[in-house]
Amino acid sequence: MAEDKDFFICRCEEVTLREIEQVIDEGYDTLDDVKRITRAGMGLCQGRSCSKVIARIISQKTGKPIEEVLQVSYRFPVRTEKMKALEQGGGSDATDN
Ligand code: FES
Repeated sequence: MAEDKDFFICRCEEVTLREIEQVIDEGYDTLDDVKRITRAGMGLCQGRSCSKVIARIISQKTGKPIEEVLQVSYRFPVRTEKMKALEQGGGSDATDN
């Protein structure tokens, strides 16, 4: 009997266990790699629900220690500002006119 792997690991982006295991088998064996290829962890919760599960899957499939897999590069959210706002010495609050 085939193991059912078509359930969502990342519910926000609807990425299944099968998809995650497939990209790991293709050689994408870091959390950032899996995220970039599948979009798992890039949904509404920004990976709070799924990142540790994905890291555990990578660890189990590759034999890497979980601590190593969990070392990811976090990027702070940024938003664009109009140059005019910078001229006026303010941020987005100065663009309201
Ligand atoms: S469950 Fe994966 S980003 Fe929310």
